[in-house]
Amino acid sequence: MSNNEDLFRKVIAHAKEYGFVFQSSEIYDGLSAVYDYGQNGVELKNNIRDYWWRSMVQHYENIVGIDSAIFMHPTIWKASGHVDAFSDPMIDNKDSKKRYRADVLVEDYVAKLEAKIQKEVTKAAKRFGDTFDEGKYLTTNPRVLGYREKIEKIKARLYKVMDDENLTDIRKLIEELEIACPVSGSRNWTEVRQFNLMFSTQFGSLSEDTSIIYLRPETAQGIFVNYLNVMKTGRMKIPFGIAQVGKAFRNEIVARQFIFRMREFEQMEMQFFVRPGEELKWFEYWKDQRLRWHYAMDIPKEKYRLYEHEKLAHYANAASDIEFEFPFGFKELEGIHSRTDFDLDAHQEYSGKKLQYFDPDLNKSYVPYVVETSIGLDRTFLAIISYGYKEEKLEDGSERVVMCIAPFLAPIKAAVLPLVNKDGLPEKAREIMDILKFDYMCQYEEKDSIGRRYRRQDAIGTPYCITVDHQTLEDNTVTIRERDSMKQDRIGIDKISNIIKERLKVNK
Ligand code: GAP
Repeated sequence: MSNNEDLFRKVIAHAKEYGFVFQSSEIYDGLSAVYDYGQNGVELKNNIRDYWWRSMVQHYENIVGIDSAIFMHPTIWKASGHVDAFSDPMIDNKDSKKRYRADVLVEDYVAKLEAKIQKEVTKAAKRFGDTFDEGKYLTTNPRVLGYREKIEKIKARLYKVMDDENLTDIRKLIEELEIACPVSGSRNWTEVRQFNLMFSTQFGSLSEDTSIIYLRPETAQGIFVNYLNVMKTGRMKIPFGIAQVGKAFRNEIVARQFIFRMREFEQMEMQFFVRPGEELKWFEYWKDQRLRWHYAMDIPKEKYRLYEHEKLAHYANAASDIEFEFPFGFKELEGIHSRTDFDLDAHQEYSGKKLQYFDPDLNKSYVPYVVETSIGLDRTFLAIISYGYKEEKLEDGSERVVMCIAPFLAPIKAAVLPLVNKDGLPEKAREIMDILKFDYMCQYEEKDSIGRRYRRQDAIGTPYCITVDHQTLEDNTVTIRERDSMKQDRIGIDKISNIIKERLKVNK
């Protein structure tokens, strides 16, 4: 097992042991790719959602929020293209019985070639030392050029077969590249077939008036179909945004990697309505803003990277992903898409209602263009806990596991701990708890030794432990222990609240 796999396994086990994430329906052996959030998980999740909402809705005067229903008119999904095109080309390996996305198998093959180029670069850099010119090497070394040429050829073919939806040729490409199943190692593949990812259910109680409706696969369409309502009732002027957080459902075929790819998940999406022709300027603006939002969570910048899409969806004229380095590699965390007027145009056509905006500065009406920011709440949660999980060796030779989560996101902000469970200390600690709990999520704990209680709080990321001892009864002071440094200070009870408040500020 690689170090990263080992780390990921530990993060998953820790998430369960400390009440962050449980497998759904666990006592019935679980439901695949569906998860529940426990007592600490729900706090962290609420805090991430709240941070997003405050950053997007509260801080921007021209962005407002909505909360649209999960059930929507089925024609919406026809108009959006999801009924016809929200599907993945899947291929099964006959020996392992595992199912894969056919295009991802090819992309993984390309990623291996790219890793080979990187290996050549690392080797050459070592060989040539300070005189090494990476740019020149990449454009002149015959082996690198060979790999590059192969990559370009494969990509061009992949994009073409995907655009043409030519399932036979995708399979041919997999065969020609001699791609083997990562599990069985065999090349015994089935045909490639399209699978639609939307869940459907019956709407209506009598069989004669029931119709099939879908569980929304994205929250964005709820925003588009409310664009006119919000624009008119909110007297919104372009450019303006509508934000929403809510559940989305996708019948993911390749569901794995814990809460990275779930069948029921939560999205935080914002659609920004702009003048046609100005969308690429706003696209750049939102890429920058969203990266800043991520960096403010006390996670190093190197953990993020931008991936610019070469192959664009039919509705987009630019698209970027903010990728995060999860324990299983860099993967998409957020998408920023310039969606043109595709969605509003389609809803105009299918609903027969005009969805235009009258621009008083230009004195004309038009269908606005849209730049979207779309981030998975669960994926953000996974990014935070997988980066935050740290095993530390301490000076005295002992070890601790600490969740280094930005304090403003931590599930519990302070733990109030009587040193011993007697001599009036619990009563004094309860007095402090009763003051703090109205402002912060706090926990009172009196069981076990103080050392074990500190460890438990470290493991869930609590920034402060406040210990009440015998001196507290004499002079109203407590010790306050900081999570990361483990430093303890003696302070007056009246100072606690301000110290916590200061630490909870978002680091912008
Ligand atoms: N409205 C655009 C949209 O839905 P997307 O790239 O399909 O775009 C946006 O999804 C984000 O939603 C992704 O970047 C990811 O964070 C999250 N997401 C998508 N599918 C997911 C899944 N099956 N499980 C967890 N999160 C998912």
